[in-house]
Amino acid sequence: MNNRKSFYVTTPIYYVNDKPHIGHAYTTILADVLSRFHRDKNDDTFFLTGTDEHGQKVQESAEARGIAPQEHCDNMVKHFKENWEKLNITNDFFIRTTFDFHKKTVQKILQQLWEKGEIYESEYGGYYCVGCERYYTEKELEDGKCPQHQKEPEYIKEKNYFFKMGKYQDWLINYIQLNPNFIQPEHRKNEVLGFLKNPLNDLCISRPKSRLKWGIELPFDNKYVTYVWFDALLNYVTGIGYGQDQEKFNKFWPANYHLIGKDIVTTHCVYWPTMMKAIGIPMPKTIYAHGWWLMDKAKMSKSLNNIVSPLDLIDTYGVDSVRYYLIRDMMLGQDSNFTEDNFTTRYNAELANDFGNLANRVTTLIKKNYDSVVPFPQETGDAENDLINTAKTLSDNVYKKIEDFKLNQATDEIISFIRSINKYMEITQPWKLVKTDKESTGTILYIATEALRLGAQLLHPIMPTKIESLLKALPLDDKKNKFSWGVLKPGEKIDAFDSLFPRIIKKKKPAPQKQKKPEINLITFEEVGRVNLITAKVLAAEQIPETNKLLKLSVDTGLEKRQIVAGIADHYSPEEILGKNIVIVANLQPAKIRGVESQGMLLAAKKGKKLRLITIDGDIAPGASVG
Ligand code: MSP
Repeated sequence: MNNRKSFYVTTPIYYVNDKPHIGHAYTTILADVLSRFHRDKNDDTFFLTGTDEHGQKVQESAEARGIAPQEHCDNMVKHFKENWEKLNITNDFFIRTTFDFHKKTVQKILQQLWEKGEIYESEYGGYYCVGCERYYTEKELEDGKCPQHQKEPEYIKEKNYFFKMGKYQDWLINYIQLNPNFIQPEHRKNEVLGFLKNPLNDLCISRPKSRLKWGIELPFDNKYVTYVWFDALLNYVTGIGYGQDQEKFNKFWPANYHLIGKDIVTTHCVYWPTMMKAIGIPMPKTIYAHGWWLMDKAKMSKSLNNIVSPLDLIDTYGVDSVRYYLIRDMMLGQDSNFTEDNFTTRYNAELANDFGNLANRVTTLIKKNYDSVVPFPQETGDAENDLINTAKTLSDNVYKKIEDFKLNQATDEIISFIRSINKYMEITQPWKLVKTDKESTGTILYIATEALRLGAQLLHPIMPTKIESLLKALPLDDKKNKFSWGVLKPGEKIDAFDSLFPRIIKKKKPAPQKQKKPEINLITFEEVGRVNLITAKVLAAEQIPETNKLLKLSVDTGLEKRQIVAGIADHYSPEEILGKNIVIVANLQPAKIRGVESQGMLLAAKKGKKLRLITIDGDIAPGASVG
């Protein structure tokens, strides 16, 4: 019988409206580190991540790019896969909510809930935030704005389908209180219980196709698609075979951890449990909400233009140090401020100094004085025995911290142990002793190297590449448990290995400049001449149906009438733009945007969220050249 423990961890599935940043990378690295710790313990491990591909946000991003939503998703998903590959992420499956099997299971579940009377039809009006893809009640808004996005939501009233979430309110409160580990950390649990003090409404789980096309069609009404969160949350079960491969599902469910950011607590801790209860799926063991990575005290986001790209960081510092920093620096559950200065300070102190120098020192001493052969240890004294005793309990202590979800403390425990090996080296001074007593020095070097090996073994889930290169250079006994003492084989050769973590020379802060000039890519006079700018008068304008941002304009260019598609509907209504004398690029190759031909491009000025058209000051006939 297989009595290996199973371990199942998930990340949120990420929206494909943008490329991943360090915040998304964090949750994914966290899940990866946990999975690797469990695989190292020989647990049967499953790690699921993926992408959330339906909904208004994705539809709008595709519209803005002028391509079909599926094509947009197929393009964007590549960025996630590329990032995760470069970050050495070892997910067992990558789920996309546009996969057929996922859509089919979501429909099957909806049909069952509909037949059981858990879903009903009704008219509803509410404040909808597209950023969150959810309705807010008036009470939940802050100064009339969405608390996450600080934007005024749209008031929408329409006929829709509702899941009877409200009837599970008492059950949910009870469940959370009886299962203290269900929502972690504690303050998030209290936040959810606080939220549940107010009456819990039913959940609107449909969107009419007239407003949103990009979603899973409701099996019982083809004029509607499924609300994106109802579809997305189900990935946690469809991704391990629910409704398809029951054996696999039973093996890994209930999940040990749903890892999420603090921004999606309500959907995961209220919507999801009530959905599971209605469907008849047992609850996951823990939903853990971590804090945010901040840049200058603000959440990283595209609109604030303060995003750190994981790939840029990897290019500069290497993948293992990025993983190490993120795990080491964030106290789980709280927010953390990201600065490159913190990054390099931590790297130089712990990786270059404590860890890298030790690895260099012991291996170089063995190479120089023992012809690269690991010396046999002889009699040990108090200093050795102290170190060996700490080493023997190290993995238990580290794993205990991991079980308690204190990853930064677990890392701290390992680094403190590495420091104690350095201290042992300082006290025993093998580089001096070797001149007079080669046998005792051999014992010191064996013990220091074996202690380093054990510490490295425990850092492997966090820094797999570097640690593998170190462990590969050491002669090890594979038959022994890698967390026990004495795995390093004396009498065998150490291979050469590169210095692990070269010091980073901190960049000096540049002296403050009086006035920062914008960076300009210079082009030639001829290059400017290739763009034919002319004036044009707007004769007609209308919104392109089923898009939110696109206007179709008919303009007079002096010689002819032309049709131009422009993504400006957020900034100008068709009436506002009518009759304006604008500037267009007249010699742009025609292109189809959302199936509508565009024969040119208009010019506009944009800063932040504001956009204004370039218009002509005074009277001039259409077709006048601009230059
Ligand atoms: N698609 C939904 C989740 C559906 S899960 C069934 C979604 N996607 S998201 O792309 O917006 O990603 C959200 C997750 O990314 C957060 O919950 C968090 O895990 C991570 N982060 C995004 N920005 C972050 C920071 N600045 N800091 C840390 N993590 C954050 O919501």
